[in-house]
Amino acid sequence: MDWSEAVTRVLFEHRDEKDVHTFEGWKAVGGFSALEKALKMKPEEVVEEVKAAGLRGRGGAGFPTGVKWGFIPKNTDKPIYLCVNADESEPGTCKDRVLMEDLPFMCLEGAIIAAYAIKASMAFWYIRGEFDLPERRMRAAIETLREKGLIGKNILGSGWDLDFVIHRGAGAYICGEETGLISSLEGDKGQPKIKPPFPAIKGAFGCPTIVNNVESLAAVPWIMRNGASAYAKLGTEKSNGTKLFSVSGQVNRPGVYEVEMGYPLRDLLENECGGMKRGRALKAVIPGGSSMPVLPAEVALQTNLDYESVQAAGSMLGSGGMIVIDDSQSMPELLKILGRFYSHESCGQCTPCREGTPWGSRVLDRVADGAARPDDLETLERIARFLSGTTICLLADSLAMPIRSFFQHFREEFEALVPTEAGEKSGG
Ligand SMILES: Cc1cc2nc3c(=O)[nH]c(=O)nc-3n(C[C@H](O)[C@H](O)[C@H](O)COP(=O)(O)O)c2cc1C
Ligand code: SF4
Repeated sequence: MDWSEAVTRVLFEHRDEKDVHTFEGWKAVGGFSALEKALKMKPEEVVEEVKAAGLRGRGGAGFPTGVKWGFIPKNTDKPIYLCVNADESEPGTCKDRVLMEDLPFMCLEGAIIAAYAIKASMAFWYIRGEFDLPERRMRAAIETLREKGLIGKNILGSGWDLDFVIHRGAGAYICGEETGLISSLEGDKGQPKIKPPFPAIKGAFGCPTIVNNVESLAAVPWIMRNGASAYAKLGTEKSNGTKLFSVSGQVNRPGVYEVEMGYPLRDLLENECGGMKRGRALKAVIPGGSSMPVLPAEVALQTNLDYESVQAAGSMLGSGGMIVIDDSQSMPELLKILGRFYSHESCGQCTPCREGTPWGSRVLDRVADGAARPDDLETLERIARFLSGTTICLLADSLAMPIRSFFQHFREEFEALVPTEAGEKSGG
């Protein structure tokens, strides 16, 4: 593909326009025309449109959004809920924050259309506890839409009612996992639940519930305005549309960038991010948030940014939280930090995660801090094995995957810190 032409913007199409974070600003760029259009369609037709667009969930798993909406049982006598996942806590990821701060009405328009499509009459906006400005923006936007009659009874004369409740998290990463989010919303400890049943069948308060990431919903107004086929034309065959990448680390211009799916990672680093800081060499990239496997520079620089290409390279696109690592950084030191994070955030329900993440973290601490024992790398490999696939949610895997990939590509850095049986460190 020729990327010399400007990359199409979907989510950030109007981001730079004046006052677009206000109701009038969003209206001025065609805001709410997508909602008007959707309300003239049947809910099932809206679901089909989003399916045809090929939009995939941007919260990490990449599950097709329209297909998920279609899982809501037909003719249920229970209320149906929409939960907007604005908990955004994966290290390296900060795109939902930008969407809520800069384009709150676009996010809400997408959520209202989604609620209509799944026939919900109540929506919850579960927002990360530390997000002050985004919360103020969303709260004010919801109030404004209530005053304008775009939230409440008989929206735009459609006969359909919808209300929104903002629920502010209390700082636990695990409440971003959809069933942990639901537990927290219900007033319980924010602990994930075993699936199945999936939330679409039995979610919040035992009722059918769709949990969607902010970025997924934010793409819906564009899709409704421009049509599913316009969206499906963007990106690659299986990864349609555009994606936000929150780039952090050792680049000259860290930030949140929108690119079409399939855009080369190398171009994102060189063009949008202005290259490496202080002219240092790229050592590695974590492409999709800190829980995703790390890619060494030579692999990362050959990778395109779509679900299939990143997977073929040995990692995952995840939430698009891209962490850029240069050759001055110590991989054992970085993995130590990840170990501390995941160990701290374990909710404690599953024995392998409750015991394994702090154990892994303690071993990673001593390796990085020069106090390693001869068999520490084998111990870490063993811990990674029993953290994988043995627990209720994927938090345990979120430490296992980095351990495995850091060892796979940068093992010599760890070996250099581990003494041999004779008490020497192999790295001298
Ligand atoms: C440990 C863990 C943390 C997660 N944190 C988030 C999060 O902060 N935001 C989010 O949207 N999804 C998060 N997810 C994914 C959600 O469980 C869920 O898949 C997502 O909200 C679905 O929305 P989507 O289909 O629009 O992507 C997390 C998953 C796990 C396992
Ligand atoms: S894997 Fe960890 S975070 Fe997830 S439910 Fe089990 S103990 Fe909680």
